[in-house]
Amino acid sequence: MADDPRSATARAHSNIAFVKYWGNRDYRLRLPVSSSISMNLADLHTTTTVAWDDNQEQDTLTINGATAADSALERVRNHLDVLRARFQSRRHARVCSTNNFPMGTGIASSASAFAALTMAASAALGLKLSERELSILARMGSGSAARSIPSGYVEWHAGDSHETSFAETFAPSEHWKLIDVIAIVSRAHKRTSSSAGHETAGTSVLQPARISSAAERLRAMKSAIMRRDFEQFADVVEEDSNLMHAVMMTSDPPLLYWEPLSFAIMKAVRHWRTVENLQVCYTLDAGPNVHCICAANDAEAVVARLRTLSSELDILRSSVGCGAYILTPEG
Ligand code: PMV
Repeated sequence: MADDPRSATARAHSNIAFVKYWGNRDYRLRLPVSSSISMNLADLHTTTTVAWDDNQEQDTLTINGATAADSALERVRNHLDVLRARFQSRRHARVCSTNNFPMGTGIASSASAFAALTMAASAALGLKLSERELSILARMGSGSAARSIPSGYVEWHAGDSHETSFAETFAPSEHWKLIDVIAIVSRAHKRTSSSAGHETAGTSVLQPARISSAAERLRAMKSAIMRRDFEQFADVVEEDSNLMHAVMMTSDPPLLYWEPLSFAIMKAVRHWRTVENLQVCYTLDAGPNVHCICAANDAEAVVARLRTLSSELDILRSSVGCGAYILTPEG
């Protein structure tokens, strides 16, 4: 495939948001209600090959070797439509995608998936798009995918139009060696997807307060990361996660993602930080799994303590990752 000019393979990393994206002000364009900040996860990635084929009558998709024919295929086709319009192409594509993190662990793969798909699809046509444009296009597949295009510590500027809503690096991955220790509380698939959840965010009376205070959390978060100030970082990460979940819980219908074990871990993490002086804080996305963000030196201690809370807990860990890149053809 590497010799075929219409085929390319790209890799993108998942990311974890410290100031979250929840709710859109334009659903068609996926323009978020506020800006967000994340770090890429070096150890969790998606690798995607796209082959544009004149003889293909429709798009096909395999994920980890299995043919996809459900909503995953529909979502990829919709994104390929966006890319076809941008590339002025009518060709269909064969898309083969693999995740290096175990499927069904409740770890969202849409960020890495749509970032890798966007990059592979454009490279397969020989297009050399700027990082900004790749981020803009990836956003159309899944909002958080915009943040998996640039490297390291990333801010997604909410923007007020298609062209102004993109993500960019504000600190390189080596700036601060944080580790994400992920406690897999449940492997079950989300009952309500993020895409559906964004649409209910506006039904919570708390969402306007979350939005109006987001700029201040963004400023505090960037400052904490730039100064490597873990105390300030932890305060903002946990406040922002709690605020997003407060909105989720008070939406119509309510979204209750936490499990009893999620809550137990959250309380334990605060104890480990405030009483035992470990540099660790928690954040949760649209699911019950707890991301324990910690200083590299404290990662082992965090893993050991998590195991004492539940012997059955699966634990993943990741350092800070680079941006999306092309594997083949080599540039
Ligand atoms: O990109 P989406 O539509 O899967 O939304 C991501 C939403 C959260 O993970 C809950 C928050 C975030 O900023 O990543």
